[in-house]
Amino acid sequence: MNQRVISLKSALFQPHAVSPDTPTPSPGKPAEGWPFWSILVVDDEQGMRNFLVKTLVPRCQFVMSAGSAEEGAELLRGHHVDLIILDISLPGRSGVAWLKDLREQGFSGEVILITAFADLETAIEALRAGASDFILKPFRVPQILNAVKQCYERSRLARENYVLRRELSSGQCASDGLVGASSVMKQLSQSLRRVAAVSSTVLLQGESGTGKELVARALHDLSPRAKGPFVPVNCASMSPELIESELFGHARGAFTGATRARDGLFYYAQGGTLFLDEVAELPLAVQASLLRTLEDHKIRPVGSEQLVPLNVRIVAATNRSLAQEVTAGRFRKDLYYRLQVVDITLPPLREHKEDIPGLARHFMAQLTPVLNVEPMGISDTEMAYLTQYDWPGNVRELRNFVERSLILGTLNVSALYAVATRPVAVAPAGASAGAAIDLQTREKQHILSVLDSVQGDKTRAAQLLGISRRTLERRCAEWTTP
Ligand SMILES: Nc1ncnc2c1ncn2[C@@H]1O[C@H](COP(=O)(O)OP(=O)(O)OP(=O)(O)O)[C@@H](O)[C@H]1O
Ligand SMILES: [Mg+2]
Repeated sequence: MNQRVISLKSALFQPHAVSPDTPTPSPGKPAEGWPFWSILVVDDEQGMRNFLVKTLVPRCQFVMSAGSAEEGAELLRGHHVDLIILDISLPGRSGVAWLKDLREQGFSGEVILITAFADLETAIEALRAGASDFILKPFRVPQILNAVKQCYERSRLARENYVLRRELSSGQCASDGLVGASSVMKQLSQSLRRVAAVSSTVLLQGESGTGKELVARALHDLSPRAKGPFVPVNCASMSPELIESELFGHARGAFTGATRARDGLFYYAQGGTLFLDEVAELPLAVQASLLRTLEDHKIRPVGSEQLVPLNVRIVAATNRSLAQEVTAGRFRKDLYYRLQVVDITLPPLREHKEDIPGLARHFMAQLTPVLNVEPMGISDTEMAYLTQYDWPGNVRELRNFVERSLILGTLNVSALYAVATRPVAVAPAGASAGAAIDLQTREKQHILSVLDSVQGDKTRAAQLLGISRRTLERRCAEWTTP
């Protein structure tokens, strides 16, 4: 609260002084109505500026004001702004002319124009220049609040659409809840509820297919941010050159081809949760930027002077041991500590086999209508086989097995065992029969058997394994380099 007042004072009484450090928004509880939303008021009349700032401050995260287009431009260079409330008649350049420039430079925020002398022509010109709304002075508090609210809603919807489109194009669907009555799963559900209530960064570790993404979504859905966006980012599937600008956004001209400024995924996650999946795959340079973000709660788009205040909860996941990645020098130790404020490790399915029948029935019930097939029962014998099996691909493998069975119309349990016991050509000498096979060997055997079943087609194998092709290639490369 205090900090918000400081930002107000400096903006109100020293409109010329552009402070180099963005006043930090009070983190935590969002203001009712329009959270995480920063507004710039540009009007040459001090009284109007005071009035607007006073009206908006209790409702917004961050309000700044300036007396001219030039001052406004100066503030915009150093601060992220979601909405500009802009007077048309300003000393020097008019509001409309400045707005045209701003749009050309790629400013994509909302703009409300205000003026005392309006005719239809000016209004049309303003809307053509890219204004979202147009208000006549004098106006009353509810009028301006309504206009701001509408702008906020529009921008929130645009963000939401963007996130939904990304999810649709990546084939993800909404969370379906955790299934499992075993004591580990019950404990997990309990701690999820506690952890969801706070905004601390969470690190999810566990083998592939154990439900890390599901847990990340549950953390979001159970949190006070549930109404905000959930933005999943697969760190392994983005090109290392573009990942920084994908995450943090970039300014116009930041690099060849950056013809427009663009907001990053962090920005789209404002007020919600950013899920950094396969975080171990982040290049070291990006790890440094991520560390800075976690420390400052701000991002700086690539090639920009602007600092964007953040209110984003970070959940990271990896199916590698991050501690091992740190030892191997591939992951920053300081970032590792920053990420694992809360550390949740998901158990492999073979360690809570009592959940297998429940999960199998759950997937049967869930997938039958989706696939539009006949319902299928599981006999006690079949269930016993399913429970005995080790499921190296964990819950995902079980789900895929059920899906395959429903499509083929038969529960081919023996096929499961046939793949699992197929001799592995490249089995290391150490992994002798009967010896406790370590996790890596188990994983390697599984990957090799899947590769084998698709005649070495890596894209297909990666799909079946539910990992990115890049991850698969990295694993394979690790086995061949001593
Ligand atoms: N406890 C559970 N209850 C119901 N479904 C589950 C559970 N655990 C996992 N699943 C389902 O199993 C599949 C794989 O889970 P998910 O994608 O979350 O795994 P992951 O740990 O992220 O794997 P990877 O490391 O390969 O990305 C998903 O379809 C998920 O919905
Ligand atoms: Mg995953």
